[in-house]
Amino acid sequence: MCVFNTASALAGKSESLRHEPISPIPQVMEVDAVRARLGERLFYDTRLSANNDLSCASCHQLDAGGDDNVTVNSLLANSQYALNTPSVFNVLFNFRQNWDGSAASPQQQIDMAVKNTHKFNNKWSNIIARLTIDEDFQKNFNATYADGLTIENIIDAIVEFEKTLITPNSRFDRYLRNDGSLTNKEIEGYTLFKELGCVSCHQGTNIGGNLYQKFGLFYDYLAERGNIQKQDYGRYNTSNREMDKFVFKVPSLRNIAVTAPYLHDGSAKTIEQAISIMGKTQVGKVLTDNEIELIKSFLNTLTGEYKNRPLDMHS
Ligand code: HEC
Ligand code: HEC
Repeated sequence: MCVFNTASALAGKSESLRHEPISPIPQVMEVDAVRARLGERLFYDTRLSANNDLSCASCHQLDAGGDDNVTVNSLLANSQYALNTPSVFNVLFNFRQNWDGSAASPQQQIDMAVKNTHKFNNKWSNIIARLTIDEDFQKNFNATYADGLTIENIIDAIVEFEKTLITPNSRFDRYLRNDGSLTNKEIEGYTLFKELGCVSCHQGTNIGGNLYQKFGLFYDYLAERGNIQKQDYGRYNTSNREMDKFVFKVPSLRNIAVTAPYLHDGSAKTIEQAISIMGKTQVGKVLTDNEIELIKSFLNTLTGEYKNRPLDMHS
């Protein structure tokens, strides 16, 4: 085991957290560096996909927000899985994976990505066969895992790599740690976020990612948008319970400024639109331009650092 450090953690800052419903991203994660490196190679490896043309990184781009900044990836368009790509950063702080929480664990999410026809469309036996003839991979797996190259170990290595995909040190987290300040406007935006009740769903380490909620509590946005598809039914697709129609995992708002477009269908092109829709659908309020602007300025403080560099949009 080794410890994954970030600059501030090395500097040994004292921890005196503000009492808020949001907690900072940890600056230190325990990571097995050898397994994580194997996982990193797999994350970029197109041999995981049936046609040898796609890797995890094709859709989850780490030099940007961990997503692809398109409404729906062209590979998924016109399928019942036409969903906006969520960021792969900080996913281990989510209680379940996928928009509708259909993966109970990060391990299950990877298994789904490999098998699903709309993603890698592959079989594990095929992946094992391809990697087995790669002597370097064989050697690395044998050196790292007692039982060498197995499905479980491939998944384990990728999950270990996901532990390194954290984005600490956003301006908001520094503020929470009493290690930086926010402008009056940003504080006003955060106060409004709490007063309106946004924080009742978007809270915890990921400012979301820890509960299910119906999308459209006060206003039926999906009916207004029209053309309701299978993927719009959310959790209902896996539970078949009437009460789970249009229920989604509350998504994380970490790095939200760099992960446009928004919502499971990617239908909100700008952060202003997303905030305005949330006002109507989730807290039953038509927000003024000024309120939207204030909340936006708070959300902009949630952009963290990956490899000690602030995240950015795609260019
Ligand atoms: C074709 C584009 C594409 C590829 C390739 C892809 N993903 Fe995704 N990923 C998505 C989409 C779209 C979703 C949302 C799926 C859903 O909600 O059902 C998603 C969801 C996720 C999630 C859940 C995030 C959250 O907040 O719930 C994780 C984690 C993830 N992917 C990691 C991976 C890994 C690891 C790989 C490689 C094994 C991979 N993805 C390959 C597009 C892709
Ligand atoms: C009752 C729970 C709830 C409340 C309250 C709530 N949200 Fe949400 N929020 C959600 C859910 C669920 C989604 C995902 C909707 C979808 O796309 O299906 C979401 C999505 C979002 C997104 C888009 C995230 C992304 O990655 O695309 C933003 C931004 C957002 N909310 C901001 C807010 C703001 C600002 C408020 C307060 C005005 C708020 N939310 C109030 C549950 C809530």
